[in-house]
Amino acid sequence: MSDYPKTRALMARGSEFLGSEWAILCGAMSWVSERGLVSAISNAGGFGVIACGAMTPELLDIEIAATRALTTRPFGVNLITMHPQLFDLIAVCSRHKVGHVVLAGGIPPKGSVEAIKSTGAKVICFAPTLALGKKLLRSGVDALVIEGMEAGGHIGPVSTSVLAQEILPALASEALVFVAGGIGRGEAIAGYLEMGACGVQLGTCFACASESIAHPLFKKAFFRASARDAVTSVQVDARLPVIPVRALKNKGTEEFTAKQIEVARLLDSGEIEMGEAQLLIERFWAGALRRAVIDGDVENGSLMAGQSVGMVSAEEPVADIIAALLGECEAALSQRRAA
Ligand SMILES: Cc1cc2nc3c(=O)[nH]c(=O)nc-3n(C[C@H](O)[C@H](O)[C@H](O)COP(=O)(O)O)c2cc1C
Repeated sequence: MSDYPKTRALMARGSEFLGSEWAILCGAMSWVSERGLVSAISNAGGFGVIACGAMTPELLDIEIAATRALTTRPFGVNLITMHPQLFDLIAVCSRHKVGHVVLAGGIPPKGSVEAIKSTGAKVICFAPTLALGKKLLRSGVDALVIEGMEAGGHIGPVSTSVLAQEILPALASEALVFVAGGIGRGEAIAGYLEMGACGVQLGTCFACASESIAHPLFKKAFFRASARDAVTSVQVDARLPVIPVRALKNKGTEEFTAKQIEVARLLDSGEIEMGEAQLLIERFWAGALRRAVIDGDVENGSLMAGQSVGMVSAEEPVADIIAALLGECEAALSQRRAA
């Protein structure tokens, strides 16, 4: 197998930071990114990330230990900033000497970056804008992910290509910036690496790998879908700000509309406050995603998927997916550089 020298050179900073052979992260996906997929990604030379989601500290403890039993390579843990036991989860990561913690779902709460760094781990955060990216780096964050709205799951309003143009020229020479959202082929990876990215993060393309525990019906829905089937949820009430979620359109998409109306009513009647309203919404997504991923209820569950879903057409081992991406990336870099 070729060792993809041009790709390796452009990914060198990212892979050194992660401790993996390739600077390709498999973004954490709730219910999907468990021990099996995470260890498979890391064993194939990428960087797997456990999705902690709504797990309790006890469950995260078990998941990290189980992943360690399946790989000797480094992997990370993704923690959601609004988790009520965030600091206990950080302590679990520390006990297991997890090398990289990804903080997702919002600006890191006070003291969280410091708490992770004091354990010796590196902190990776999502930068939704250039200004916030700079602020996160100033606050001690070690690397940034910029994720465009093409991605699956919770998304921001800006496309990957625009974020990349705004942020990479400004930050990538001094900081480590990984690009995510809508990446389905190595040619796109080549483009972002040439713009200064130190690596990439993919989710949708790994969700249906052979090693993924996702239900066969979940995988089948992915193989059938095209880019335009991966749509964003709509906000029905201006007073209830919900983070849009990109998923394959089904009955579950409509149920979310009903859920928002129900939660908005609870807000109006004063039964709950905004923080609790947002937690109810997030619990809805976690439950809906579980229904689709684990139970295979592809009608009513949530089929979170990015627009690159149209490029996913069959179940393949993680190692083959990574090899294909690297081959395409290397060919693109060779062509562009030969011209
Ligand atoms: C099914 C699914 C579940 C996801 N769950 C999470 C999650 O729990 N936490 C998170 O930070 N990102 C989550 N994501 C986003 C991924 O980590 C990743 O950043 C994204 O999929 C990259 O874009 P792509 O889908 O275009 O490859 C999820 C994505 C998918 C497709």
